[in-house]
Amino acid sequence: MKSIDDIKSVGVIGAGTMGQGIAQISAMAGYQTILYDIDEKALENAINLIEGNLKKGIEKGKVTGAEKQQALALISTSTKITEVVADFIVEAIVEKLDIKRAVFTQLEQINKEDAILASNTSSIPITQIGAQLKHPDRFVGMHFFNPAYIMKLVEVISGAATSPEVAMLTREFAEKLNKVAVMANDSPGFIVNRVARHFYVEGLKVLEEGVASIETIDTLIQASGFKMGPFQLMDLIGVDTNFSVTTSMFNSFYQDPKFRPSRIQQQKVDAGHHGRKTGKGFYDYK
Ligand code: NAI
Repeated sequence: MKSIDDIKSVGVIGAGTMGQGIAQISAMAGYQTILYDIDEKALENAINLIEGNLKKGIEKGKVTGAEKQQALALISTSTKITEVVADFIVEAIVEKLDIKRAVFTQLEQINKEDAILASNTSSIPITQIGAQLKHPDRFVGMHFFNPAYIMKLVEVISGAATSPEVAMLTREFAEKLNKVAVMANDSPGFIVNRVARHFYVEGLKVLEEGVASIETIDTLIQASGFKMGPFQLMDLIGVDTNFSVTTSMFNSFYQDPKFRPSRIQQQKVDAGHHGRKTGKGFYDYK
């Protein structure tokens, strides 16, 4: 079995909201990092955002110029999955079971038998994503929070087949990335997203019923001590990603109405109003 010191290279699959941040912290921790996406523009955008984050870090005195250069030098990008050969691979692509499964099947074929494969899924059970793998024992959930380069917490999720050694190694790896790992057993939404789902679902219901406006709901929730209201947070997360997570949890819990997705949110997704990343969501960012 691999030890933490055997992990030298990291693959990040998906260069969107989460993949960008995961690649950044991986490079900042000194790992050779390959960032892969099917969309060349997403890769360009990710590198620009990482550079911008590191620049802000310098301005705040948290990052030195040399650390910025070193981190950027450690990240390479690719649109070819066959180039993602690494010791530890974290996937952060769309929240769709069949797409994630197809990607992990490919990654398993390309990589060595002792490479660890991890998913940053917010809600899909790890046991389901890894079931078709030849070695589901080295497949694990590694759930970061947004923005990944700031938020300290990582949920490490063991699927039914995940080996305890792989779960422990993932915890150590999270610590190398300067994160605090919490171990969780497999369940739709794990811990945080299961508890927090009602924050979004009820916020949307209050809006749908005409009880209050988006601005009023967010202002009141903030005034009660939360950092953001549900609509501000959905725009940060990505309205599309948040909708996929709710839909996945609704289905996983056998259509339990308390997780029912909202038509208002569906309409935002259909319109391409995905939040900050598209310049418009529940609020306008242009
Ligand atoms: P996103 O929509 O911002 O980015 C997804 C990226 O994956 C896009 O750049 C897209 O081009 C790429 N992609 C799609 N299909 C692909 C494929 N087959 N191969 C390679 N790249 C592909 O999504 P986001 O928000 O980064 O979410 C990614 C994952 O992280 C999801 O599973 C989500 O549930 C999870 N997550 C999201 C959080 C958030 O706040 N946005 C927080 C924690 C987890």
